[in-house]
Amino acid sequence: MSWRAGALTLGYQRLLRPILFRSWGGDPERAHEATIKLLGGLGAEPWRQLVAAVLPAAAGPIRLAGIDFPGRVGLAAGLDKDGQAARVWAALGFGFAELGTVTARAQPGNDRPRLFRAPHSAALINRMGFNNSGAAELARRLTGWGQVRGQSQLGLPLGISIGKTKAVGLDQAQADYLACLVAVAPVADYVAVNVSSPNTPGLRRLQSAQALAQLLTSLVQAAPADLPIFVKLTCDLAEADLDQAVEAATAAGVAGFIATNTSLERHGLKGPDCRLARQAGGLSGAPLAAAARRMVARLSGLTDRPIIGSGGVMGPSDAQALFDVGASLVQIYTGLIYSGPGLVAAINDLVASRADQLGPATREGTDYDRA
Ligand SMILES: Cc1cc2nc3c(=O)[nH]c(=O)nc-3n(C[C@H](O)[C@H](O)[C@H](O)COP(=O)(O)O)c2cc1C
Repeated sequence: MSWRAGALTLGYQRLLRPILFRSWGGDPERAHEATIKLLGGLGAEPWRQLVAAVLPAAAGPIRLAGIDFPGRVGLAAGLDKDGQAARVWAALGFGFAELGTVTARAQPGNDRPRLFRAPHSAALINRMGFNNSGAAELARRLTGWGQVRGQSQLGLPLGISIGKTKAVGLDQAQADYLACLVAVAPVADYVAVNVSSPNTPGLRRLQSAQALAQLLTSLVQAAPADLPIFVKLTCDLAEADLDQAVEAATAAGVAGFIATNTSLERHGLKGPDCRLARQAGGLSGAPLAAAARRMVARLSGLTDRPIIGSGGVMGPSDAQALFDVGASLVQIYTGLIYSGPGLVAAINDLVASRADQLGPATREGTDYDRA
């Protein structure tokens, strides 16, 4: 790790994180909202340039699914749901950012409190429930900043994660996802279909092979030819169900996979964090690392499409482990909360120093099959 990444991580963990974790009465969601607001401000000039000058740039460019990614580490979905800070992510060294999950209609999400820190386990539990301002509002915001597919106007490709509106029944899910896709298509470099959040009742049933085949086929057909569709699955699927889901998604013509979403398992919570185990919601962070690794490994044996690894990337070695088993890109959420932007820098350092050992970097140039 470079001195810069080390200093950034230490500075964040010793100075900024204690303030963030203690302010607002220790409420993690209010800390998150304030941070996103601050980052949104830092995305405006001249601050953006200043941030970019201090932090190392993305490393290890790769072309996947027809998209030129300037680096291998991305922002995971859910952190910047409404894209308020979309202009700052490239300056922090990210190679891509996945905004959303947005839904066709704006919705408030579940009741608060709905986000919990498990600091002894470097983990979070959340049951946000897709709180967001709606797909149209996100598209409007990004359009205002000049974002158009393929032009990386904000310095990096933007994925947009789409989900089902809570008030819409599962039987109407397809039309709801389609409406969302249509709204975000002009501003998305890829679309991630989220069928794996544990926090919208019934949503995960859309991962069954038959439901997935129907949903993804309609979305792939409706999407513009140059808009790749990824699907995000959960590591909570039994192996046989995962195999069938991957087969169905591949047959439907998805460009690639994102593995994994948060888990309903509670293994890996330590000491005082064990009392959080009864909180409903998805677990993320360090306890997810092994399951994410297993899932990416299994996926890479099942498909030749690009895999984006997500889950428990808390340090560069976790990113390396996902690259080793077949991920072409990785995403971070919980690691950013615990380690700050130094984590992005440290992964970029790793990528820059081990470009020859990144395994499926050989997927470079692979164009997705939309047939
Ligand atoms: C508070 C919170 C909100 C999240 N919201 C979403 C979301 O809206 N859509 C989604 O696909 N994943 C969402 N996730 C899952 C993350 O994108 C990521 O896949 C997961 O947390 C595992 O990565 P991590 O261990 O680096 O956090 C959320 C995670 C957290 C902690």
